[in-house]
Amino acid sequence: MIEFRDVHKYYGDYHALRGITGTIRPGEFFSLLGPSGCGKTTLLRTIAGFEDISSGAVLVDGRDMAGVPANKRPTNMVFQSYAIFPHLSVAQNVGFGLRKDARSTAEKEKAVAEALEMVGLKGYGGRAAHALSGGQRQRVALARALILKPKVLLLDEPLSALDKKMREQMQMELIKLQRQVGITFILVTHDQEEALVMSDRIAVMFEGEIAQLADPETLYRRPGSRKVADFIGTMNFLPAKVLEEGADAVEVDAAGFGRIHIEARQVMGGKTDEGATVGFRPETLTILYEGSAAADRESMATIEEVVYFGDMTYYDVRIDGTDAPVRISMRNVFGRPVLDIGARARVGWSPGALVLFR
Ligand SMILES: Nc1ncnc2c1ncn2[C@@H]1O[C@H](COP(=O)(O)OP(=O)(O)O)[C@@H](O)[C@H]1O
Ligand SMILES: [Mg+2]
Repeated sequence: MIEFRDVHKYYGDYHALRGITGTIRPGEFFSLLGPSGCGKTTLLRTIAGFEDISSGAVLVDGRDMAGVPANKRPTNMVFQSYAIFPHLSVAQNVGFGLRKDARSTAEKEKAVAEALEMVGLKGYGGRAAHALSGGQRQRVALARALILKPKVLLLDEPLSALDKKMREQMQMELIKLQRQVGITFILVTHDQEEALVMSDRIAVMFEGEIAQLADPETLYRRPGSRKVADFIGTMNFLPAKVLEEGADAVEVDAAGFGRIHIEARQVMGGKTDEGATVGFRPETLTILYEGSAAADRESMATIEEVVYFGDMTYYDVRIDGTDAPVRISMRNVFGRPVLDIGARARVGWSPGALVLFR
C-alpha cells in the first residue's frame, strides 16, 4: 500500500531521513515511534506530499508519488495543532473540504452528520467551534479529514495536547474508528505506550533511521537492539560472557544467573563495544513466596527499593553476585504482604524469557 524505498531527506546539510525502507499494509494501524527530532513528522509529510525527498521513492498503491501534489494524493492529514477554524461552526469546519464538491447541499449535510456521528459528536453541528473542549476539537479535526474519504489517514501526534484521561479515551475511540472505517491509519507518536496500545505494527525510529519495524509484541519481547529495548518499556540488563556458540543456541554465563542456554531466536544482533548483555522485562522475574510453584531457575536476591502502585508493586532487587539492582514487577494479591526493603527473597525466572544482546 505504502512503500518507502531508501528514502533520504536533507534540510540543507542536515540529513533528516537516512535511508528509510519499509512497507505499510492496507488497512493497518501503523505507528511511527521515536524520540523528538528523529524524523517522524518529516517521514509522514513525505507521504502527504508536504515534503520533497532528496532521493529514493515513496509509493502509494504501487504508484511513485514523485511530483504528485498533496491535493492529488489519496491521503489526508490530521495535525498536532488541530487547525480548526474557531469562527466557523462545527458543521462548517467538518464540511470545509467539501466546498468545491459537486454534491447537493442536502447530500453534503448528510455527509457532515455522518462524519460527526462517527467521531461521537452527533448533534454538535450547530455549535461554535471555539466553544469546544480540546478533546472535542480533536474529534472535529478527525471528522473533517474522514469526510474526504482518504485511503490513508495521517495523524501527527493528534493526542499530545490532551490530558492523560482524555488521551486514553481517545486512543480507544481511534482504534474503534479505524476498525469501523477500515482505512490505513499512520500515527506519529513519541509515546511508546500509546504506540503499543494502538498499533498493528510500529516502526521505531532513531536519528532518521528505522531501528526496527514489527508488531508490538515482537518489539516488546524481542527488541532488535538494546536501544529499542530501552525505548520501549523497561528492560533490565546484566552483563554476560559467551561460553559456547551453536547454530541453534548460545550458552552464556550471566552475572547472578549462572550458565544459561539461550535459543537463537532470542539472540539479538547489533554488536556493541559493551560486550554481551542479557536482557529481561520486569514481569519475567517473579518473587517466590512460600508455597509458590517452582520456577525453572532460581536466584537469591535482596530487596533494595519498593514502589507500591496498588495493583502492582515494583521491587528493585540486587541478585546475589551482581553489581546493580534490577527491577521486578509483581501483581499484588490480596492477603499477600508487600515485602520490605532489606528483605531476602527467592527470585524465579525462565531462560526462555531472556534475550541476549551482543
Ligand atoms: N524545515 C526544516 N528545516 C530544517 N530542519 C528541519 C526542518 N524540519 C525538520 N527539521 C529537522 O529535522 C529533524 C527531524 O524533524 P521532525 O521530522 O520534525 O522530527 P520528529 O517529528 O520526529 O520530532 C529535526 O532535527 C528537525 O530539527
Ligand atoms: Mg514531529
